[in-house]
Amino acid sequence: MRALKNKICALVLSAGKGTRMKSELPKVLHRLLGEPMLWYVDKSLKGYFDPRDIFYVLGYKSHMIEQSLDFVRENKIYQKEQLGTGHALQCAYDQLIKKGYEWVLVVNGDVPLLDMDKIWPMIDRALQQDIHLSFLTINLDDPTGYGRVLRNEMGQVVGIIEQKDIQNSEIEKINEVNCGIYFINLKEVKDYLFKLDCNNKQGEYYLTDLIELFVGDKKEVYAHNLGKQKEFLGVNSCSELALCDEILQKKIVEELLNKGVLIYRPELVRIGPRVEVDSGVQITGPTEIYGKSSISKGTKIDSHVWVNDSVIEEDCKILSFSHIDGTHIGKGCTIGPFARLRPGTELVSDIKVGNFVEIKKSILQKGVKASHLTYLGDSFIGEGTNIGAGTITCNYDGKNKHQTYIGKDVFVGSNTSLVAPLKIGDRALIGAGSTITKDVPEGCLAVARQRQKNITRKIKK
Ligand code: UD1
Ligand code: MG
Repeated sequence: MRALKNKICALVLSAGKGTRMKSELPKVLHRLLGEPMLWYVDKSLKGYFDPRDIFYVLGYKSHMIEQSLDFVRENKIYQKEQLGTGHALQCAYDQLIKKGYEWVLVVNGDVPLLDMDKIWPMIDRALQQDIHLSFLTINLDDPTGYGRVLRNEMGQVVGIIEQKDIQNSEIEKINEVNCGIYFINLKEVKDYLFKLDCNNKQGEYYLTDLIELFVGDKKEVYAHNLGKQKEFLGVNSCSELALCDEILQKKIVEELLNKGVLIYRPELVRIGPRVEVDSGVQITGPTEIYGKSSISKGTKIDSHVWVNDSVIEEDCKILSFSHIDGTHIGKGCTIGPFARLRPGTELVSDIKVGNFVEIKKSILQKGVKASHLTYLGDSFIGEGTNIGAGTITCNYDGKNKHQTYIGKDVFVGSNTSLVAPLKIGDRALIGAGSTITKDVPEGCLAVARQRQKNITRKIKK
């Protein structure tokens, strides 16, 4: 880790509510392509920092953040009242000093697309030239909402002015903005940090005011300008979240196309950052694949498919409108159209799951067929078994869930109710329309329905 040897830590500011999102959820938990904003920040930082050197300032609904993201639990620092970004660093200051850090990279938690490779040159320069306060800037066609970078006639940075405090339309036009990423020498910043005041429109202690204080004391400040970059956009509103999500969606799909994944209607294919897709896989949009999913070569996914936390092995066909969550699909399976596979489902190989079939917490062995209109829950289905249309495992008695075990090469006739707990032996045959409440031994025919009577109709002449 490059950061270690220089006694550098990272501090992610994530205590704010995110009022402009107009949502009860803490801002940094809002998701892009299925992952919370803070997950992206953490992932990028981890490319350069040891996890022990990354700290999170938490405040608003901190318990929710700690619950959703285990990495924040170890290294959290509380900011009880959210009095501004400067105050957030004040809250962390003593802890960071006590731990022996000399430098801190402060990162706003609402910059999900940040790219550490582009930030590191700023850090390198600060370390080489011993510059005690550096920050990252970009140029935006529409800088509205961001802190504008103020420079003097010689082009030297003199301060940052927040959007809400701008009173002059010329300043409003400045398109160089602060990204909310700062590299700071902890010892040198102390006097200035605790001098910050809150005499501004928002009544907050702004971290950005450090620049003016440093410059006022003739101390060098370095603004590392990256020009026009989309990666450092901050997310404060739902439309900014949607914009970052769109940028990320395009980036991921483009990477997959370059890798040889055949994607039709790429603008409508949404693939999360943890998903692995082999080259040669074919995907047609609209389709969404999220979480820790992987799709192996030879597999074809038709349009309108939703996948989450699932493994789809080689040579599978996933037909339209299938919904697949927490499922392992082995080689050579055909799923859908309109299939629903719920968490805990394991399809071993060469299985056919047809339309309007729902499966939950079940293992289906090689060659099982459930082609139409079926519910299989809490079950085990042996190799080669055929589940007829309209079969239901009645797994819930109103209080508890029960298991259904079906052996090898069983034929379950259409419209059968299997009242669990139940065991059906190998090669059994269940008559259509049966309600099976007792175990069926191996090789038996079970029929549990009323015998048909044919009675002559009395027809008036
Ligand atoms: C901030 C910068 C602005 C910059 C922009 C870039 C300040 C004063 N302004 O504005 O110059 O252009 O980011 O995106 O810093 N937070 C806390 N505790 C608090 C307040 C905020 O941890 O008391 C966290 C928030 O959760 C958020 C981050 O700090 O992750 C930034 O806060 P936010 O309110 O989004 O600042 P901006 O208005 O975007
Ligand atoms: Mg922000």
